[in-house]
Amino acid sequence: MSTRTLVLCKPDAVERGLVGEIIRRLETKSLRLVAVELRQIDADLAGKHYEEHREKPFFGELVAFITRSPLVAMVIEGGPDTWSVVRAMMGATNPREAAPGTIRGDLALETGENLVHGSDGVESAAREIKLFFPEISVA
Ligand code: RTP
Ligand code: MG
Repeated sequence: MSTRTLVLCKPDAVERGLVGEIIRRLETKSLRLVAVELRQIDADLAGKHYEEHREKPFFGELVAFITRSPLVAMVIEGGPDTWSVVRAMMGATNPREAAPGTIRGDLALETGENLVHGSDGVESAAREIKLFFPEISVA
């Protein structure tokens, strides 16, 4: 069975010209692109996407960051637990602590500019795919 997950190349990735490098890593791993879109999201979608962080002190900063310029939203698939494979490839939230060989570990330095988002479970993958790509099947 193949499962799907949502990946965002965040605005810093687009601004720094790293979208190709991030997609290259995912494709080289044999993950497949199901949908890809460059778009600038508004605060409403950003808030829904990061709903779990609404009460956190960094929420305002997070919404400002994710809406500041276009991002690249993608649906990715590749066997069971695709979300888990992608999360491992992303590395830790804080790029200073992310292992070398991961996207954040190799290419970023600050938590607030950590290049990629990946859904953190099967339920969040389904919820986030529906938010960004309502026309795409979640599985
Ligand atoms: P993401 O949701 O973007 O894939 O990142 P994540 O799961 O690794 O981390 P999460 O805890 O969900 O946090 C979401 C994003 O919020 C920003 N953040 N800032 N200043 C802080 O302490 C802080 N903590 C988190 C990061 O941009 C993180 O990716
Ligand atoms: Mg998260």
